[in-house]
Amino acid sequence: MGNPANHNSGTTQTRCVGPIQQMAADTDALQFSGKAVSPICHLYVHIPFCARICPYCAFYKDLLDRSQTSRFCEAVLHELDQQRAAFAISPETIYFGGGTPTALTTGQLEFLLKRFAQHLDLSSLQEWTIEANPGSVSARKAALLRSLGVTRISLGVQSWNDNLLKLLGREHNARQAEESFRLLRAAEFSNINVDLMFGLPGQTIEQWKLTLEKTIALQPNHISAYCLTYEEDTEFFLRHARGEFRQDVDSDAEFFELAMSTLENASYEHYEISNYARPGFASVHNHAYWLGKDYLGIGPSAVSTVGIQRWQNVCDYRAYMGRVFAGQSPSASSETLTHEMKRTERIALSLRTSDGVPASALKGFTQQTNEFIALGLLQQSNGNLVLTRKGKALADSVAEAFL
Ligand SMILES: C[S@@+](CC[C@H](N)C(=O)[O-])C[C@H]1O[C@@H](n2cnc3c(N)ncnc32)[C@H](O)[C@@H]1O
Ligand code: SF4
Repeated sequence: MGNPANHNSGTTQTRCVGPIQQMAADTDALQFSGKAVSPICHLYVHIPFCARICPYCAFYKDLLDRSQTSRFCEAVLHELDQQRAAFAISPETIYFGGGTPTALTTGQLEFLLKRFAQHLDLSSLQEWTIEANPGSVSARKAALLRSLGVTRISLGVQSWNDNLLKLLGREHNARQAEESFRLLRAAEFSNINVDLMFGLPGQTIEQWKLTLEKTIALQPNHISAYCLTYEEDTEFFLRHARGEFRQDVDSDAEFFELAMSTLENASYEHYEISNYARPGFASVHNHAYWLGKDYLGIGPSAVSTVGIQRWQNVCDYRAYMGRVFAGQSPSASSETLTHEMKRTERIALSLRTSDGVPASALKGFTQQTNEFIALGLLQQSNGNLVLTRKGKALADSVAEAFL
């Protein structure tokens, strides 16, 4: 999870889901010049390179081309300068996502992160996350990231079953993923997230149970468990359309139920539909999105939201570099959010969290709320409406009723 654009599977990361429409300007529109708005506290940086393209992935990414990566890092720093000229930035959280940030060489990561630390005031920084693929973690890279101030690693393990990893087209096997996890621990990363996926073609409940148990045995502080989504324009989507793969909502619900019970028994708090954390280790960056805070996205395809303005950078890293080096904005589409859009987005995101939605925000939906309470999908808790265990499995449908 890094940058909002896709909330279905809880992966909330940057996808190119079609242009954000240009909408009529609202009278409340913010002026971007002159640093008129309060400081931006959350930064997302999209690194699009991947050593291999996974057949289920719809995030914006491109095959790693080593001849382009150094120039790309320069472009990211150029955009950071553009953003610093337009906004006061005082990061509390930074999230490097992708793609695969660790596909960059140790030298390139050093160059990029050092410049971020030099160009930004990091005195308020609480969390700096980098997504890592087990195939591209080394002891040197891990030590460097730690020494440059990265506090949290999100490791894309997906499964501990080698056959499923092959089906997913991953570049790593289970042994390499475990080795990467240990390297990160040895580099003194105390805050590691492990990404897992369930509802995979042919996956059995026993395999999922073993994957959960193996993950718990390694004691990461955070676990993200995503139900496979058959995303348009992916190979998996085509195989699903051809009938080779089937989605079974009942077994997905069973996988989800097993994740909840197994992880809660192991003292992980289920604080968002796809996210579990040991006390004190919930992702601060993700919370900012769910609370509707402003954030800037840097890099191709990255989405930014400041006040009621939202824009998305061009989903092509070559075009991105061209624009940035020519001194142009890399933004390809933008929209002005209405208060209604902000309100419904906030409800949909908060509903997925264990805090739920303030009852006052659902005042106009008394009938729907009462029906969901009667059905045992929602419950009242400290003035908030929160999904019940049964409701969590139907989170998206419940949220839809309030939109
Ligand atoms: C940007 S992606 C991955 C970061 C990194 N490149 C990797 O693959 O490990 C973040 C996470 O989203 C999840 N994900 C990606 N595509 C998905 C899909 N189609 N359905 C469900 N989860 C997905 C995976 O768990 C992945 O680790
Ligand atoms: S490595 Fe991650 S970002 Fe790259 S294709 Fe695979 S899932 Fe997508």
